[in-house]
Amino acid sequence: MSAILEAKSLNKIYGEGNNKFYALRDVNLKVNKGEFLAVMGTSGSGKSTLLNMLSGLDRPTSGEVFLDGISLTSASEAELTKLRGEKIGFIFQFFNLIPVLTAEENVSLPLFILGKYDDQTKKRVFDLLNLLGIGHLASSRPSDMSGGQQQRVAIARALVTEPKIILADEPTGSLDSRTSKEILDIMRHFCDEMNHTIVMVTHDAKVASYAHRIVFMEDGKLIDELNLKNSSQSVSQRVVEITRRIEGELV
Ligand SMILES: Nc1ncnc2c1ncn2[C@@H]1O[C@H](COP(=O)(O)OP(=O)(O)OP(=O)(O)O)[C@@H](O)[C@H]1O
Ligand SMILES: [Mg+2]
Repeated sequence: MSAILEAKSLNKIYGEGNNKFYALRDVNLKVNKGEFLAVMGTSGSGKSTLLNMLSGLDRPTSGEVFLDGISLTSASEAELTKLRGEKIGFIFQFFNLIPVLTAEENVSLPLFILGKYDDQTKKRVFDLLNLLGIGHLASSRPSDMSGGQQQRVAIARALVTEPKIILADEPTGSLDSRTSKEILDIMRHFCDEMNHTIVMVTHDAKVASYAHRIVFMEDGKLIDELNLKNSSQSVSQRVVEITRRIEGELV
């Protein structure tokens, strides 16, 4: 399997001298095409720092990140902005939709920014809205939608540029459990059936149980990994196993 994203010996140090603090410590990670990877760890363990390095939003103190074979570490700020726009889709906890724009306009926005809005990509906007079951809401604004509907719009927006990878930080953190399940089923489906690649940060074992693989962080290090790709366990059995790993982390 080919790695679409690779982190090599990543270190991120904040502060200097006695105040030196390792937010990431020798992190090595490969994400394969079509993989749904969850990153778990307690608050402050370095999850968001890692995502920021993987997206080129921030630079590591040492080490390297390769996205689709391109080194983010040696890219200029302008190149990074372009790479992010073209190759990465983002999904956030609070959806981050633009309130004055309709669903169609929110999803189209990344295409306008890239100068790629045309008849063909316009069709893609509607195809995605339909695929996500919100075609009828194309002309609605976020304030007229439920949380789950807004997150579907955000997923369409993340996918519209056909990115190499989707990065999600607590994508179901502000949704109720039934809506979370719907969104996670969609995310898993996009990986299983359409070969999309997702890296998702979460605190929640139930949320992580939808991933193919989980890596566990503590104090800036990757300390454990759990492969669920071919697991025949039920969701509740998986949650028990994930919780056991997390608790192992704390002893
Ligand atoms: N700009 C910064 N300057 C100094 N320390 C920082 C900075 N950004 C993050 N840190 C520290 O690095 C550590 C990792 O932070 P990070 O935000 O990655 O944690 P997290 O795992 O995402 O936590 P949470 O689950 O609360 O979002 C924390 O101890 C944090 O205080
Ligand atoms: Mg965080």
